[in-house]
Amino acid sequence: MNTVIHPPVIEIEKLWTRFGDHVVHQDLDLSVNQGEILALIGGSGSGKTTLLRQVIGLETPASGSVRVFGQDVGHANSEQMQALRHRWGMLFQHGALFSALTVFDNVALPMRELRSLPEDLIRDAVLQKLHMVGLSPANAQKMPADLSGGMVKRVSLARAIALEPELLFLDEPTAGLDPHLSDSFVELIQSLHQAMRLTVVMVTHDLDTIFALATQIAVLADRRVVVKDTPDKVVTFAHPFIEQYFLGDRGRRALAGMRATGGGSSST
Ligand SMILES: Nc1ncnc2c1ncn2[C@@H]1O[C@H](COP(=O)(O)OP(=O)(O)OP(=O)(O)O)[C@@H](O)[C@H]1O
Ligand SMILES: [Mg+2]
Repeated sequence: MNTVIHPPVIEIEKLWTRFGDHVVHQDLDLSVNQGEILALIGGSGSGKTTLLRQVIGLETPASGSVRVFGQDVGHANSEQMQALRHRWGMLFQHGALFSALTVFDNVALPMRELRSLPEDLIRDAVLQKLHMVGLSPANAQKMPADLSGGMVKRVSLARAIALEPELLFLDEPTAGLDPHLSDSFVELIQSLHQAMRLTVVMVTHDLDTIFALATQIAVLADRRVVVKDTPDKVVTFAHPFIEQYFLGDRGRRALAGMRATGGGSSST
């Protein structure tokens, strides 16, 4: 039995985010524990991407606090931020590969930024990460413009896991992928989760992905997290957004699929 109690990996307290007069988050609380695969859901424009950006220090809270690995992100100095950045990986919503760099150089970038790793070690690590996401070495010298949408996502994921992070952020990892590629992406995240003992925070609209992967769901509505719990608890939570989201035809189908396969209920 594992009796070690870990503090939350992410702890957000009373977070306010404003852009001018526009309040995106108001008194938002959320905590994410080690090993969770959290699906963050909410309507378009509800502030999901902005919340990830707050957690990784790309936005500044108007008030409240965001702690990651116990470190207050809003008050971290540049050295502390750098140390944090080495412990997490981020897959941005729109891929965000550098178009002028090859696949190899895109994945190598976070390693080269460390300025301490020899090139031969970087080479091995890049090829290993590409292999982990199902890409052969033959793809390494391709340019982003020559890749399919699914391949761009895989390369972005390879870059996000380049430094073997403890914490992985995925913003719409399966958006725009056909169902077959979405399924293999789900398997990929599952195997990474097991191999690397990751904590995963994933924004997604894809109900199949949510029910296949998520051990917890957090619902962003009314400018805050209205509920964060296991999928089976969240789907029955009384809130107009949740009812509309899960109890439409799309939601019922995905839910039936989860219950049939037992997906989403365990992190092992
Ligand atoms: N830099 C910014 N300046 C001004 N407003 C912003 C900025 N970034 C985000 N917003 C606004 O904050 C709100 C939340 O945006 P965000 O991108 O977080 O939504 P989202 O939940 O990720 O939506 P989607 O599902 O469409 O990706 C939107 O109204 C958006 O216009
Ligand atoms: Mg977004």
